[in-house]
Amino acid sequence: MAQAPIVIGIADQMSDYSRQANARNLKIGFVPTMGALHQGHLSLVTEARKHCDIVVASIFVNPTQFNDPKDFERYPRHIERDIELLSTAACDAVFIPESVEQIYPPDRAAVQVDLGLLGQVMEGKYRPGHFDGVVNVVSRLFDIVRPHMAFFGLKDYQQFRVIQYMVQQLQIPVELVGVPTTRNADGLALSSRNQLLSDQERQQALAIIRCMQQARARAMTSTGAEIKAWVKDYFDQLPEFALEYAEVAHGQTLAPIEGDLAHESHPVLFIAAKLGKVRLIDNLFLKN
Ligand code: PAJ
Repeated sequence: MAQAPIVIGIADQMSDYSRQANARNLKIGFVPTMGALHQGHLSLVTEARKHCDIVVASIFVNPTQFNDPKDFERYPRHIERDIELLSTAACDAVFIPESVEQIYPPDRAAVQVDLGLLGQVMEGKYRPGHFDGVVNVVSRLFDIVRPHMAFFGLKDYQQFRVIQYMVQQLQIPVELVGVPTTRNADGLALSSRNQLLSDQERQQALAIIRCMQQARARAMTSTGAEIKAWVKDYFDQLPEFALEYAEVAHGQTLAPIEGDLAHESHPVLFIAAKLGKVRLIDNLFLKN
């Protein structure tokens, strides 16, 4: 039978757990999450399992990264089910802070990292303050858990780049791994927010991956500007969607690419769109 993970609610106890693992020379892999877990999250745990002796996950719906309080309230929460799912993926411990103060003690100063362009484009532009919240929570979680390796999904590609940059700037001794996006058989990227979609919206949401795949098929004979315009036209014809942005950007710098894609080493298409009340994001490499 699958072994349930140890549940830890207090930051100091989490740090003690890691210290003990360290004393035994065990390599700690860490998977931070906001819960409402799905197979995408579990793929990170599975990846961590391959590289590390001890796998620690965390579940904390971080208030500081939600720029819309309604989005924070609506965010799905299923702790019992999450713990069961983590058991199936052989996760050793899960840190579920019992209060917000465990993460943000009153005497702790906020961490500041100037993210430059990485923090200004796309999610940074449309969700002001979002990445400051992500940087703060992830740096604090790293401080508590002290992992050797940490695993993040490329579904949130910009977040992964931001965390890589933060780790470099703050010289945090952790190795980061980006894990490819888990999709349903029909191509929809798994997301906790998918649970908020109606059945009809769930079908309509497939337009995002279909559009991105068609854009990829055109990419090598197009410019970035053409692909961007083409994606906008595509969504203009779908009244159920409100497209927030479609960007073709360099995978490392996230600088927009206007010119020929055939000469680009790492072009990525990024889409954010609202379907009803639910905000969805996805991305696809335009070159293999
Ligand atoms: P959350 O949205 O719960 O995602 C936790 C991790 O799971 C992130 O690294 C995310 O990229 C990854 N993930 C989500 N869907 C995925 C999918 N379909 N395939 C692969 N990986 C996927 O991202 C956050 O939480 C928060 O911002 C967090 C980093 C925990 C900080 O609060």
